[in-house]
Amino acid sequence: AVIYGAPLKTTFEGCRRGSLSGVDYDCCPSEYRGPILDFELKYNASAPVRIRRAMDCLDEDEASEYGEKLRKGISLMKALPADDPRSFAQQARLHCAYATGSFVTGSEGFDIHFSWFFHPWHRWFLYFHERILQTLLGDPTFTIYFWHWDHDGEAIIGRNKCSKSGMYFPAIYADPDSPLFHAARSLRPEFPALPVDLGLTGAESMDVPYRPKDLLLARNVAVMHDVMVIKSNTSRIFLGRDLRAGGKRVLPYEGGGSLEVTGHASIHWWVGGDLRTPPTAGKDPVFYAHHGNIDRLWKLWPLGGQGRANPTDPDFLDAEFLFYDETKNVVRVKVRDAMDTRALGYVYEFEERNEAWWNY
Ligand code: C2O
Repeated sequence: AVIYGAPLKTTFEGCRRGSLSGVDYDCCPSEYRGPILDFELKYNASAPVRIRRAMDCLDEDEASEYGEKLRKGISLMKALPADDPRSFAQQARLHCAYATGSFVTGSEGFDIHFSWFFHPWHRWFLYFHERILQTLLGDPTFTIYFWHWDHDGEAIIGRNKCSKSGMYFPAIYADPDSPLFHAARSLRPEFPALPVDLGLTGAESMDVPYRPKDLLLARNVAVMHDVMVIKSNTSRIFLGRDLRAGGKRVLPYEGGGSLEVTGHASIHWWVGGDLRTPPTAGKDPVFYAHHGNIDRLWKLWPLGGQGRANPTDPDFLDAEFLFYDETKNVVRVKVRDAMDTRALGYVYEFEERNEAWWNY
């Protein structure tokens, strides 16, 4: 039963085979357990704050410099032994474990999706992914950039001065010879020459006839306005339902927040293949660029004011998750330490009210 006044705590003990939509998955972390360290914000205190930039708004030199580093980092990550908790495969498995009820609270498996933990959990996931890349590259300044898919560069009504559009599949992930490529994607002939479709829902998915470009661009801006501005004025609506110690899983999509269910999920469907379902989504390198934008949009949400604020409930703030850090240690984090990205060492480019969809 749900226990009010008791935050959810993750343990690796009792991790079991999970399932999602009737399919079984075996994605518990590898054998290594080790001592559990408590996360401390001071790790980030001495380093300068880094800027996670929008990939579409880089100039040519910046884009090629970034592409080169990211390709190197991801290929090093993919080259680690499969049971190394920092390996690309293990990171995807950890995402799977948190998405399939493999970890247990009370007697129930839980899923960090479709709950108020969706945003903070993924912030932590990217945080450790980035730290691992920094270590593999030997470059503490390395920063993951985001796929700016809410930004239509052709819509001039916003104040975001970047005139390129982020609504296309990012080119550096599309080269079949690159470690950023992933074969298990739905490659339609129009893809990636047409913009993403942020209005995709599971039911219509990729099988509907593709909409014309101008219609898609306009609809995407309207969808963003809808999920960020119209359907977003309480944390229950924007973040999703509460999940506490002993809390039950809900059916996929039941209880999810507005941006998670529309926009976020739409990109997963639009790219398709492994990205379509959480147990395999982390296998596609573009996952991390996609979630960079989700993380940024979570930061933008409170700027709408009028009651838009993250929960102050201790069952939210004191919830605990386990991750592996860049030294293979298991680290216990709390949601409260994820609330300020600057304290985690980074901010986003374009984290002001500067996209066209604010005033649509
Ligand atoms: Cu954990 Cu975009 O999903």
